[in-house]
Amino acid sequence: MYVCMCHAVTEDQVKRAIDAGANTPRQIAKGCKAGTDCGSCVRRIQALLGEHGARPCPTARLADKLGLADPGADPAPAPLPAPVAPLRVA
Ligand code: FES
Repeated sequence: MYVCMCHAVTEDQVKRAIDAGANTPRQIAKGCKAGTDCGSCVRRIQALLGEHGARPCPTARLADKLGLADPGADPAPAPLPAPVAPLRVA
């Protein structure tokens, strides 16, 4: 599957770059130019980097830094809101 349509870069090519040590979208771009034209593929490249442990997204890093992240845990279901009495119009 193509990740970058502008430069015909596939997901496998990006994964190989990650396996070869690329940790950032810029490092991926140095090898194959992915993300250097329209930029619409950069988020997918960032996701691939995160999925393959190269570099978690900034939100995940912040959550980890603040001690809020536990990637293995299922999120607890949000409590249901209290019922609201219907409005009555006099
Ligand atoms: S789709 Fe990758 S730069 Fe345009």
